[in-house]
Amino acid sequence: MSLLELHGVTRSVRLPDDRILQILRGIDLTVDAGEHVSIVGRSGTGKSTLLNILGLLDTPTAGEFLLDGVPIGRLSGRVRARRRGADFGFVFQQFNLLQARTALENVAAPLLYAQGKQFWNRKRLAAEMLERVGLGDRLDTMPEKLSGGEQQRVAIARSLVRGPRVILADEPTGALDVDTGGEVMDLLDTIAQENGSALIAITHDLAVASRAKRHFRLAEGVLAPIAIGARSAGSLDGLGTTMEHVPDGEDHQAEHVAVPLGTVASAAAATGSTGAHGPGAGPGSTLDDLFGDSVVAS
Ligand SMILES: Nc1ncnc2c1ncn2[C@@H]1O[C@H](COP(=O)(O)OP(=O)(O)OP(=O)(O)O)[C@@H](O)[C@H]1O
Ligand SMILES: [Mg+2]
Repeated sequence: MSLLELHGVTRSVRLPDDRILQILRGIDLTVDAGEHVSIVGRSGTGKSTLLNILGLLDTPTAGEFLLDGVPIGRLSGRVRARRRGADFGFVFQQFNLLQARTALENVAAPLLYAQGKQFWNRKRLAAEMLERVGLGDRLDTMPEKLSGGEQQRVAIARSLVRGPRVILADEPTGALDVDTGGEVMDLLDTIAQENGSALIAITHDLAVASRAKRHFRLAEGVLAPIAIGARSAGSLDGLGTTMEHVPDGEDHQAEHVAVPLGTVASAAAATGSTGAHGPGAGPGSTLDDLFGDSVVAS
């Protein structure tokens, strides 16, 4: 049984003029425990929408989503909120740290929703996690005093502190320079692996995408597996020729068709791709949305 399974998942929204916008048009995706998967795609193709569904922040319009083999539609809102807090960690492009809280308080925040030892030992666990991301000497620093890369490391520590089974990262390096982004991804990769967490990373950056074991491209609401050429692991130059399409159901070594991926990267560079407009909570989410319901700390 897989950890996450999507079968024919769609998501549509009704626009103010009553037209229906089909964002996702039948997504099939299976993710096993500890797996690292990347998803690339142009701005506005539904990547954040998909991630919000995977993270139980949003629900499909149709299709099936199984978590540990159980259709999520069968879970009550309360159970879903608990599962979201306990099983999922989120990392966003804009870090989304609480600006009025120290690094330590930010990382400890998800543990306010945990039970027992995790709740009572939250300061120590948060400090250990910050140590692991190399910020053990910045526990009492406010986010605004940290560099972008350091803030993202705090966000990574926060996403991992409850030992989630899945990390969902929405453009985790989108606001960082290439070198810092690479370091941050190394860290996210390493710690996710050490913790045995699955990592699903959405990115415009092929170098980031190439770290994953399986790669997908989301285009016009449809998800398709792709192969990423070895050259893509280096710089962002020459992106147009480094990504290849693998037809559905084909062996990954089979027939490769070039995809004009340069447009993906340039769209990201041009727009800064906020991803803040998904139908689910996304980057605007509250602590309650992301970490679980507020009854758990009782
Ligand atoms: N609640 C909503 N109402 C109307 N349109 C929406 C809603 N949520 C998302 N959309 C539209 O659906 C499309 C997909 O949005 P989504 O945020 O998932 O894209 P994305 O691939 O994450 O884009 P980006 O790379 O810019 O972050 C966009 O055209 C967006 O405007
Ligand atoms: Mg987005």
